[in-house]
Amino acid sequence: MIFTSATCEIPKTGDVPQHLAVIMDGNGRWAKKRFLPRIAGHKRGVETLRSLIKACIGREIGYLTVFAFSSENWRRPPEEVSFLMNLFMGALDKEIGNLHANGICLKIVGDRSRFDSRLVERIVRGEALTQANTRLTLTIAANYGGRWDILQAVNRLSLAKPEKIGHWTEKDLAPYLSMAHAPEPDLFIRTGGEKRISNFLLWQLAYCELYFTESFWPDFDAVLLDQAIDTFRHRERRFGRTSEQLPHA
Ligand code: IPE
Ligand code: IPE
Ligand code: MG
Repeated sequence: MIFTSATCEIPKTGDVPQHLAVIMDGNGRWAKKRFLPRIAGHKRGVETLRSLIKACIGREIGYLTVFAFSSENWRRPPEEVSFLMNLFMGALDKEIGNLHANGICLKIVGDRSRFDSRLVERIVRGEALTQANTRLTLTIAANYGGRWDILQAVNRLSLAKPEKIGHWTEKDLAPYLSMAHAPEPDLFIRTGGEKRISNFLLWQLAYCELYFTESFWPDFDAVLLDQAIDTFRHRERRFGRTSEQLPHA
């Protein structure tokens, strides 16, 4: 029997995830609880991301992908959207040297067409500067949507291999997806208490272990990360097989 699903190729599993994907949610509520404006939560959230990057390096997690701005977040008040864009641009300016010095390879995924040209310029420069680094691949999803990603990949594939239309495989599509540079995430964490994917990595999360915490993003720290990793360690990842078929059985 020929298996055509990529999920049949069982990935390497281990005690620590090799690719952690995070929805950094709850900044606004964190701020509200403290009678602060929402933007104070976003500001604090950047610090939390900085600590998480360090913690991932310390735990030898090779890939960290974070959701910074969804394709739906344009629906927010214009002041909040422009604050987030400026925060992103400012953080890129401030941190790119540090990221590079620490051996981090930076990737930005998402639709760039709505971004200010100055932001696009910084993204392109930051990616070029860090492209050869291998210690940690940090992917920031900005104006990203999982449906957008699948569609842009299909559209590009249709131009590249029109003769194979009707017979494309998962392997044909893979190189056109935004996350082609990384293995599929094996642990997903969403902070802020919501139990949903919110159009994050739809294709790539097919067999990911999902973990939800009530903690707001600005409160997420190494202790909470280790709790998530500990839960991950105790999950039985079967990929369709029975328990008895697993290597340890
Ligand atoms: C996540 O925090 C950050 C972004 C979506 C940019 P929120 O801003 O969604 O915070 P809550 O969910 O309103 O608390
Ligand atoms: C998801 O958070 C997007 C990011 C964290 C960037 P939201 O707070 O926008 O998600 P929903 O809309 O409440 O599901
Ligand atoms: Mg939210």
